[in-house]
Order: sequence, then C-alpha cells, then structure tokens
Amino acid sequence: MPAMKAVRMHRTGEPGVLAVEEVPRPEPGTGDVLVRVHAAGLNPPDWYARKGFSNIPEALRPTLPLPYTPGTDISGVVAAVGHGVTPWQEGDEVFGLVRFPSLEMENGGRGYAEYTTSPASQLARKPAGLSHVEAAAVPMAGLTAYQYVFDHIKLDEGRRVLVNGAAGGVGHFAVQLAKSQGAYVIGVASGRHETFLRELGVDEFLDYTTTRVEDEVRDVDVLIDCVGGPDAHRFLPVLRPGGVISPVFHGDYHRERAAELGITFRSGQVHSDGEQMAELGRLFEEGRLRVGIDSVFPLAEAAKAHERAERGHIQGKIVLRVAPDQIGSPASR
Ligand SMILES: NC(=O)c1ccc[n+]([C@@H]2O[C@H](COP(=O)([O-])OP(=O)(O)OC[C@H]3O[C@@H](n4cnc5c(N)ncnc54)[C@H](OP(=O)(O)O)[C@@H]3O)[C@@H](O)[C@H]2O)c1
Repeated sequence: MPAMKAVRMHRTGEPGVLAVEEVPRPEPGTGDVLVRVHAAGLNPPDWYARKGFSNIPEALRPTLPLPYTPGTDISGVVAAVGHGVTPWQEGDEVFGLVRFPSLEMENGGRGYAEYTTSPASQLARKPAGLSHVEAAAVPMAGLTAYQYVFDHIKLDEGRRVLVNGAAGGVGHFAVQLAKSQGAYVIGVASGRHETFLRELGVDEFLDYTTTRVEDEVRDVDVLIDCVGGPDAHRFLPVLRPGGVISPVFHGDYHRERAAELGITFRSGQVHSDGEQMAELGRLFEEGRLRVGIDSVFPLAEAAKAHERAERGHIQGKIVLRVAPDQIGSPASR
C-alpha cells in the first residue's frame, strides 16, 4: 500500500503532541473520493480534540480514537473515486468540510495529511479564483456563517446585526453574509482588526478592549455571538424587544430574563454540506465573499500552527500548506 505523510497524535495535550508520520494512504470506500490534499484549514474543534475536549463537560465528551489525525477543512485534487461516485473524477479541484460533526468516528477528521477520503456529497468544486490555501480556509467557518444566516436566523432584508468576534473565522464570513442580505452590520473585535473589518463592509466597528458595547449599542435585531462565555448576558440591553440571539459558542445569556424581554435564540451545530459549499463557491466566484488568511504553516509545522491558534486574536483563518504550490499559479498566493 503506498505511504503518505500525515500529522498524528498518540495522546492528547499541548501542541507538541502533533507530529508528522509516515502512514498508509487511505483508500476511498463506496461513495467516497480520495483527495490529494493541497491545504488544510484549522478550526477550534481541532485544538479542542488535541486537548481531549477538556472544555466540554465529561459526560458529553466525544471519544477520540488514538492515534488521531485532526482536520476537517480541505482543499485539493481528486486522486481516485470510490464505487458509486458519479459527480467527481480524477483531477477535479475540490474543497469541503469532511465528516463533521463525527469526530468520534474511526480515524477522525484526517485533514492534516497528504491524502484523505471524503464522502463525495460533502465536496464542492474549488472556486477558480481561490488558491488551495484560501479555499481550505473556507469550509467550517464559511458553512457555520452560512447555516446561521440562512438556516437558523433566516435573516431577512435590512436588519440591524451585531457580530461579536467579527474578525475570526466564523465572524468575518458572518459579517459578509449579513451584508449580502442588506443588513446594517456592527462588528465587535479588538482594535487591530478595524481596517480588515471595514474592508469587509462593517457599517460600524467597536473595539471591545476600549468600549463597553452594552453601553453604546441599542436596537439590534440579531446578535451573532461568536464568543459566548459566562458574561454573554451583558448583550441583552443591546437587543430590541423581539430580537434574536444566535450563540455560535456556549454562553450564559440569562435565558429567563431574555424571555421576559421577548428575545429568542437560534443556533445549531455546523454540518458538512456539499451543496452549501457550492453556494459559498458561487459567492466567491461572483466576488461577493472574501476570505481572510491569518497565517500559513507547512504541514510539518502543525504544532506551530496550533501554538498560533492558542495565542488567540485570529484574523480570518490559519491554514496548513500540504502540497508545494507551483510558482505563478493561483495556489502560490
Ligand atoms: N455552532 C457551531 O457549529 C460552531 C461552528 C464553528 C465554530 N464554533 C465556535 O465558535 C467560536 C468561534 O469560532 P471561530 O472559528 O470564528 O474562532 P476564531 O477564528 O478563533 O475567532 C474568534 C475571534 O473572537 C475574537 N474575540 C476573542 N475574545 C473576544 C471578545 N471578548 N469580544 C469580541 N471578540 C473576541 C478574536 O479576536 P480579537 O480578540 O482580537 O477580536 C477572534 O478573532 C469558537 O468557540 C468555536 O468553537 C461553533
């Protein structure tokens, strides 16, 4: 069986548990595609898994099969197709969120590797205008923002939307998708992200390190909260009666008080979806969506990429470059 390089961890812990090893190349099962991975995006579940999901109550913790290869966001080229796969053929450039949520599955996400398999239905054609690094930055964060804006919130035209954590992976896509619905968007982030967020179209920017957002903002229709936490309820006064809170991460929103104020909650767990990936791809092709790249690391430096993630204040996405890009091709950007 041909070999390949993959990042594996044999125990949970600090970023140093991630190391590149030679492992057998996987084979595509029925309905699966084998992808030569050119780039793999990082997401919070990757470091939650690395740390053994210590941020999740013990009773709810997924079991992680060890050794484990993290990574659910990929962009690459179809290398082979399994039985019953019709939409893809060898050489197609694809991107997608692979098998999420199902981290407890045997072999896990498996994106931090030279090759991985994916259900064919979870992939979409990579937008021609994006490099593999850029495309690999899209899947989980892009799908989360898409599913929040269109499936959970069902954001209609012209709403006043506050995005908290606006410069991060989910936040920077949520800002743009809300703008595409004609929303007035207030972005909340630390000051270093102001130019980035204004370029993405926020109508107002608030630096949470110098401004108490809860004292400054009123009459918000929808709060997309990518931060959450124990003091998430501080945002209740910014919402108008009948407003909506969409927690992307757990937070204490004082739900009884929120109900008294007529505030409702809409949220959900992001899931793989090839058709929605294709829709995101179309928005990129039309120039209506952009992706922010915080930093790029070679596959061999996955541990350093996780150290970068640990430092926080991410602007857009962190990506692992897996295949060397050809000079001058879009992939070299
Ligand atoms: N529901 C779901 O299915 C789903 C899907 C994806 C992600 N998530 C969760 O959603 C959260 C965000 O994910 P992500 O991928 O966007 O993470 P991320 O890329 O790390 O972004 C988080 C952003 O929040 C900002 N931030 C940190 N503290 C803040 C504060 N107090 N106020 C405002 N902004 C603050 C950070 O930068 P600055 O501090 O510099 O502004 C950073 O830009 C994670 O907890 C993740 O687990 C949930």
